[in-house]
Amino acid sequence: MNVTMSGWVMSKATPYALALSARARASIKHQRPRCIWLTGLSGSGKSTLANALEVELNARGLHTYVLDGDNLRGGLCRDLGMSAEDRRENVRRIAEVARLMVDAGLVVIVSAISPFRADREAARQMFAPGEFSTVYVSTSFDACARRDPKGLYQAALEGRIRNFTGLDSPYEPPLDADWEVDTEATALPLAIHELLGFILSN
Ligand code: ADX
Repeated sequence: MNVTMSGWVMSKATPYALALSARARASIKHQRPRCIWLTGLSGSGKSTLANALEVELNARGLHTYVLDGDNLRGGLCRDLGMSAEDRRENVRRIAEVARLMVDAGLVVIVSAISPFRADREAARQMFAPGEFSTVYVSTSFDACARRDPKGLYQAALEGRIRNFTGLDSPYEPPLDADWEVDTEATALPLAIHELLGFILSN
């Protein structure tokens, strides 16, 4: 550590072991901190499910937070684009924030395309066993393109947007999802009911 005129400059930080454990923080909330990670194509229904899930968990007295890719790209990740490298960094940042929130005792719901298996696996590795659940929102490309809530599929198909997930940027489906839901095949109320059932029993 070096000292400058302007204050402390930490060139290489040594982790400081905090006295209070994650378990102690969570215990005053009477909840098990965890990260529920929703992955899937743009328009697959991730944000809708994440929102509905948070409302249901909150109603049951759980302290939650949603980290949504679209929202974070307006702040924490606003310097990132849609290249593979930037998506990797996007997922890394989201996972780091989720990890801090889990350490603080919260139930964190992530909603991000997070298209690459290796990046999702790296995210999972940041958590203790049993603290991380992958939810694959497996709504097909065709169904998402038909919905096209933001007009992005149209723009991508016309070549006005590059690196579009499922088109000219790959999406690698999870091989080991803890839960899978196709929001075209399953009506929203049932999809939420079943996802909630999975979360509350696992
Ligand atoms: S991720 O791939 O890095 O995980 P993230 O979930 O944060 O993506 O953001 C995806 C959102 O960015 C989409 O829901 C969509 O609104 C918007 N978006 C803009 N350009 C693209 C693109 N080329 N591919 C996919 N989504 C895009």
